[in-house]
Amino acid sequence: MRLSGLRMGLAVLVLSPVVSFAAPGDAGTGIAATAHDFTSNGVNGSTAVGLCTYCHTPHKAITSQLLWNHTLSTNTFSWDVAKTTAGTTFPSFVGNTYKGPTAKCLSCHDGSVAIGDIAWFKEGSHGGSDQLSTKTMNDVDPNFVVGATGGVGGAMKGNHPVAMPYPFGNAASTYNGTTTGSLAVLTEWQADPTSLASANIRLFNDDGTGGISAGPVAAKTGIECSTCHDPHNKAAVDDLFLRGKITGSAQSDGYLCLQCHKK
Ligand code: HEC
Ligand code: HEC
Ligand code: HEC
Ligand code: HEC
Repeated sequence: MRLSGLRMGLAVLVLSPVVSFAAPGDAGTGIAATAHDFTSNGVNGSTAVGLCTYCHTPHKAITSQLLWNHTLSTNTFSWDVAKTTAGTTFPSFVGNTYKGPTAKCLSCHDGSVAIGDIAWFKEGSHGGSDQLSTKTMNDVDPNFVVGATGGVGGAMKGNHPVAMPYPFGNAASTYNGTTTGSLAVLTEWQADPTSLASANIRLFNDDGTGGISAGPVAAKTGIECSTCHDPHNKAAVDDLFLRGKITGSAQSDGYLCLQCHKK
């Protein structure tokens, strides 16, 4: 059957209710128009910047790794208890020396450094008294402060383990100086969350000398903030940059917690 242009148009209109169109800022569409788009959301004050500026710079970066531009926190991060239930020792790490991506997130999300405190933009340094914005996360939205400065018994109190080993392949891992505890029920974990189709979990590996890169490696695998969140909103499948769904009841429907835990 031949369809005229008009009939084609009508067919598309009739079909369109089952098609959903992603708008800028929606899960998976990239950084533009999200909470991490500092080009227009007020956090940057009056200076026009690029979409990447607050986090990355092509030159004069603080670290070559990730070409990181945002001034790192000098806080020491630790938890209020020594170990998880499985007996895994929680790590203690310093914001401006730990190489994992968690330290990059906490450079803004611990509330100690201004969001606009960056090393380099447009031929100039913007740290110290020349910050592009003096607002900290506490000023922007205190609900988004994770790993706050101070706090009884450790800045990371109450937060899911990060900078910690993942029992990849249902076996213990050593990561950031700590090893999966002997009481971990290894069968109650997804062997390889990165191989599951329903979400986009990202695991990391530790080369044993403090170098951390993306991807799991047997016995050296760990989790970071960006295991569950994608700061670029590309691999996100739900709000809050989440790599799994915030709602649900099955691994197959993408529910975040069940991408790793088998409960
Ligand atoms: C709010 C901070 C933030 C902004 C803005 C941001 N990034 Fe990133 N970027 C990160 C973090 C954190 C990582 C490490 C992510 C990880 O470990 O998964 C990263 C990682 C990367 C990587 C390493 C490879 C990868 O994909 O993980 C590239 C390349 C990159 N970013 C490019 C960009 C570009 C280009 C822009 C601008 C269009 C941008 N980023 C904007 C925070 C940001
Ligand atoms: C340059 C500073 C900066 C860095 C680095 C950064 N963030 Fe953010 N992030 C912010 C700010 C500021 C907001 C809140 C913006 C607002 O409310 O207008 C935010 C918001 C968020 C939100 C809430 C998103 C929403 O839709 O409301 C999440 C989740 C988040 N960040 C996670 C992360 C993670 C995980 C990392 C590291 C992988 C990271 N951020 C790195 C500054 C940063
Ligand atoms: C195990 C997965 C996981 C890890 C790891 C993780 N998050 Fe989240 N994060 C979540 C989920 C799920 C939510 C939504 C919580 C809710 O509001 O019910 C969330 C919410 C947030 C929010 C929004 C405010 C809130 O608390 O609801 C921010 C900001 C955030 N995370 C930042 C971070 C940072 C920074 C790190 C690393 C220090 C991190 N996350 C590590 C799963 C994770
Ligand atoms: C990327 C994999 C991953 C995801 C996704 C994940 N977890 Fe975890 N979870 C871990 C790891 C790794 C540990 C630490 C295991 C150990 O004790 O060695 C852990 C530990 C825990 C613990 C035990 C803490 C303790 O002190 O014993 C609880 C409870 C938990 N997670 C709940 C959740 C919830 C709720 C979600 C969803 C919001 C979630 N997890 C998502 C990997 C994950």
